[in-house]
Amino acid sequence: MSLLHVSDLTGGYGPIKVLHGVDLTVEEGEVVALVGRNGMGKTTTIKTLTGELPAMSGDIRFDGTSIATVSPNQISRMGVGLVPEGRRCFSNLSVEEHLKLAERSGPGGHYWTRERVFEMFPRLKERRANLAFTLSGGEQQKLAIGRALVTNPKLLILDEATEGLAPLVRKDIWLCLESIAKAGLSVIVVDKNLKALARIAQRVVVISKGRSVWEGAAQAFAEDESLHQQHLGV
Ligand SMILES: Nc1ncnc2c1ncn2[C@@H]1O[C@H](COP(=O)(O)OP(=O)(O)OP(=O)(O)O)[C@@H](O)[C@H]1O
Ligand SMILES: [Mg+2]
Repeated sequence: MSLLHVSDLTGGYGPIKVLHGVDLTVEEGEVVALVGRNGMGKTTTIKTLTGELPAMSGDIRFDGTSIATVSPNQISRMGVGLVPEGRRCFSNLSVEEHLKLAERSGPGGHYWTRERVFEMFPRLKERRANLAFTLSGGEQQKLAIGRALVTNPKLLILDEATEGLAPLVRKDIWLCLESIAKAGLSVIVVDKNLKALARIAQRVVVISKGRSVWEGAAQAFAEDESLHQQHLGV
């Protein structure tokens, strides 16, 4: 049984249908990259998976249970950790408060504590008392990752976690994702850096116009420029 099994998912924003049939599976311990041009429905897919947007039809099964009509809070408690596009840190909460409020044992156990997050991101430890609005973009991104990890999820979903960051900070985040993936956590990662994705992901799923249109090995995808041209326009 797959950890996540999404079949023929449709959804969108009120009457505006954006997803027209997304199929996506994630096995235990697998890293799946979700790629596609801008505006093709990657974030909408993730918002629907995590309960922020309603599914219009199709099914989403997580860990053996249908979550298509379950609330975001409950989906999070079932073990789906989200690092959302745009980070969504709370300006007036400190680093420590963000982590303290989020920390709990989850279906993944209780490996991830605040201290482990601070070990992985020493910069956050230095700034633990600082309010989020005083942090740099990279620090906020690390905080958003830490906040998802301390919920001890079974599936971690990252939507553009390296977007708009300086190269050194990006590298830092990729190294951290690599170690998380090696430790066996299941991950869905949305990003534009195909080389970095190929280092951590086993599989790629391409989303185009609200549909999953291609699926295959991440390594093969990274090396095939005709696929990039066809699906990403690069
Ligand atoms: N709040 C909204 N209301 C209506 N339509 C929306 C809304 N948010 C996004 N859309 C539309 O849904 C489609 C898919 O957007 P989505 O954000 O899922 O794309 P994406 O693949 O994540 O793109 P990007 O790579 O730019 O992050 C786009 O056509 C977008 O204009
Ligand atoms: Mg997006």
